[in-house]
Amino acid sequence: SKKAFIFDLDGVIVDTAKYHFLAWKKLANSIGVDFSEVQNEQLKGVSRVKSLEKILAWGNKSISEDEFMELMALKNDDYLSYINKMDENEILPDVTKILDFLIQNNQPIALGSASKNAREILKKVNLFKKFDTIVDGNDVTKAKPNPEVFLKAAKQLNCLPKDCIVFEDSLAGVKAANIASMISVGIGEKSVLKEADYVFNDFTEVSTEFLKELINK
Ligand code: G6P
Ligand code: MG
Repeated sequence: SKKAFIFDLDGVIVDTAKYHFLAWKKLANSIGVDFSEVQNEQLKGVSRVKSLEKILAWGNKSISEDEFMELMALKNDDYLSYINKMDENEILPDVTKILDFLIQNNQPIALGSASKNAREILKKVNLFKKFDTIVDGNDVTKAKPNPEVFLKAAKQLNCLPKDCIVFEDSLAGVKAANIASMISVGIGEKSVLKEADYVFNDFTEVSTEFLKELINK
């Protein structure tokens, strides 16, 4: 039956996970909170609001709603200073090759990201046109691991959830794909993404044979 391939953005298509980390760390430190790279795994795939809530909880901080909005804006400004300098060189290895293979094989491709900056980033790295549909942080209200973002993408591509394949670097995203009854492909460390149906360190390990198998399943 007809398949659809759904890609997360940050940490899957582009190496922006490091910029989110740097920007959150700077913001957290500015209010006297620190967190580790291990804790940072919990921020991956998670919305801007949820991320700040977690950081505040780690630091036992409670702040007003106005301050909350201000801190989110500060973090995003800092993050955008990195994004503005991005170009095609920041596309992760073999991502373009995989997208082109799927396009050549007439497979629908969606973006399923929690980021409100997703469209901007895809344009920056010149991949925008490769996607049949984009569902991002502006289109959903429930953060991963809620499957809303992926279910919306499936619907827009007219594909049943069980026929969708999701590529994710975050545990929250893998959980979201699994909850949606989609096939989850983890991109990253096996120890972190063990709940995924398949895990690869990066796309250089994802063969066209493997993709063909998924297409013909
Ligand atoms: C992705 C990233 C998260 C980020 C979230 C919101 O899921 O993995 O680290 O917090 O998007 O991104 P935004 O660009 O809207 O702040
Ligand atoms: Mg991600």
